[in-house]
Amino acid sequence: MAHRYFTTPIYYVNDRPHIGHLYTTVVTDVLTRYRRLTGDTVRFLTGTDEHGQNIEKVAKKEGIEPIAIADRNAPRFRELFRSFGVANDDFIRTTEPRHRAGVEEIIRRIAAAGDLYLASHEGWYCPPCEAFYPEKDLAEGTCPVHGSKLEWEKEENVFFRLSRFEKPLLELYDRGIGGKPFVFPESRLNEVRSFVAAGLKDLSVSRTTISWGIPFPGYPGHVVYVWLDALTNYISALGFGGADDALFRAFWPATGSDAKAVHVVGKDILRFHAVYWPAFLMSAGLPVPTQVVGHGWWLKDARKMSKSVGNVVRPDELVRAFGIDALRWHLVSEMTFGQDANFSDEGFLTAYNADLANGLGNTLSRAVRMAADAFGGRTPSERCDDNDVRRAAEASVAAWNEAFGEYRLQDAAGAIRSLLKTIDGYIAAKEPWKLAKSEGITPALHRIHHNCLEGLRIAAALLSPIAPGTAEEVFRRLGGPKKAADVTPRDFAWGQIPLGAPLEPAPPLFPRADAKAFFASRGSGEPGTSQETKVTDEKSTDSSKGNQPTATPAPAGAAPVPVPAAPLPARVTIDEFARIEFRVGEVIAAEKVEKSKKLMKMSVRFGDEVRTIVGGIATAYAAEQLVGKKFAFVYNLAPAKLMGIESNGMILAATMPDSGEPSLLMVDPAVPSGAKVK
Ligand code: MSP
Repeated sequence: MAHRYFTTPIYYVNDRPHIGHLYTTVVTDVLTRYRRLTGDTVRFLTGTDEHGQNIEKVAKKEGIEPIAIADRNAPRFRELFRSFGVANDDFIRTTEPRHRAGVEEIIRRIAAAGDLYLASHEGWYCPPCEAFYPEKDLAEGTCPVHGSKLEWEKEENVFFRLSRFEKPLLELYDRGIGGKPFVFPESRLNEVRSFVAAGLKDLSVSRTTISWGIPFPGYPGHVVYVWLDALTNYISALGFGGADDALFRAFWPATGSDAKAVHVVGKDILRFHAVYWPAFLMSAGLPVPTQVVGHGWWLKDARKMSKSVGNVVRPDELVRAFGIDALRWHLVSEMTFGQDANFSDEGFLTAYNADLANGLGNTLSRAVRMAADAFGGRTPSERCDDNDVRRAAEASVAAWNEAFGEYRLQDAAGAIRSLLKTIDGYIAAKEPWKLAKSEGITPALHRIHHNCLEGLRIAAALLSPIAPGTAEEVFRRLGGPKKAADVTPRDFAWGQIPLGAPLEPAPPLFPRADAKAFFASRGSGEPGTSQETKVTDEKSTDSSKGNQPTATPAPAGAAPVPVPAAPLPARVTIDEFARIEFRVGEVIAAEKVEKSKKLMKMSVRFGDEVRTIVGGIATAYAAEQLVGKKFAFVYNLAPAKLMGIESNGMILAATMPDSGEPSLLMVDPAVPSGAKVK
């Protein structure tokens, strides 16, 4: 098993942490937890970037020393990450002596290689990026990242011979390391390659206009350029340049070692990590990292969330209302890793209700409650090894592993979602509450409940890197307490739920969220898009579901915000929607089903095909009103028996708000029967 070293960028301390910072740290935590689970020896580093012009400026404005700003904000990052269950092994601050030692050592080596010289320099400088940009990269004269004003800066600097590394860098991009591309995803590798192939200019690596930084060895009056300073954190934290470099030797890749180092960064700083950093290392005669993984941005109002733009979302409020794991889950499951995503409270609430309140929370509480009711508060005492839930669990485990291997974190989350859906469908199909009534407590009933609980146990194991606190709570309720950090691949094998163990029926893990109440409770009125918060009732599919309690929830130890009830509709993706086929059908015969008040049996023509479809519309329509008319139908619904008649589709009707009666969706008679509706 390999030594794996994962790092996040180190965060500027002139800002308080926002969702963007949290995202990088949480996804890195998820990746490290996954690798630990698979048995690798993992080290995880995060920290703060405390030098540079921006911090000096803020300090000047507040009339305090820059270190006071750093001392104030670094703990905010550290605490936030800790409260989010981030299991980092180390937290580095660039103002620490161990870091300075590492920076001095790398500079000593770069200088010894003859890659430093003094020259004067002028150009467009972006203060928030702490970087010069060539004219061709500007976005209409502004910073390509922030869209903000640039400053024309002129000074004498120490230069690094970056141009010398053009060829070795291109070779690195072409070759990759250990069969993996140096930059992930591939699209970003191509961007980096084109940037380097277009020609590299030497890089200024010192500043004289600021004093808040590490003094540049050999160049009095210069401080080390903040990026050369900051990037070195990845090795100074391992003891490089210090008296004890055992961690450096164990975790930094080198010929003959099994170590892999992966830097997870936002796409904004990919160039620094994929161009400058390997060039510095090559110059210093040190091995380069194994891979730089660049993720997309969380956007707000279509702009990168950032302090300088002023559009940040702070995690505090969402966590207070919904708990830490709800936000961890959202950050991981809702962003296609590598691409940008828009953050909206409405999107958060909708996904929360669909995945956590309904998908996990409701399925868990139903399954546990039903089993507890059936078996006197205990888990079933019979196991079952051949069933649909097991097959779904095995498929989910495989998909989950594959997704992690390719940084498709959203698909790892999707594999859990799909397992939960299978369990929910299994409960609905098996109707164990009916079986218990009609046949009593049989071995078959034990097996059905076993499958549900066992499926949930495996879902919790799969959830453990993403939402560790929740996984632990699920294990506890299922009668087999376990720490998320103790999950191993053995936990994915079928059939481990303790038999006859005490079950813990408890309130829903994630109570349903009420969007209206959430927005009202924080005093911001209605959210932007009313459509996204429109309230509809979800139909419960069986009698055991009952009504879910609705609240603005606060699991995982957060203080709840009490609010009145009103459920949100669960969202479907375009792909999920596309699985349903709607068609126009013509009713060619109809008769009311005997002994049923509501049901109407219809013969419906779709082109050349005629099907029997039973619909609950007889209280509102007589058979003769239907014959010869065209309506909209769900065409690919699985067949179902209603009062002994097999129905092959569903007629679509609106529900009248006052009477609750159906009102059929009429179709223009000119549309041919069988036409698809999209
Ligand atoms: N200090 C430098 C990094 C030095 S690493 C040797 C820096 N700091 S930062 O605080 O501005 O941002 C660091 C990282 O935070 C970004 O690269 C990215 O990973 C994350 N994010 C900041 N805003 C973000 C979004 N809006 N969306 C997603 N992640 C973002 O750059």
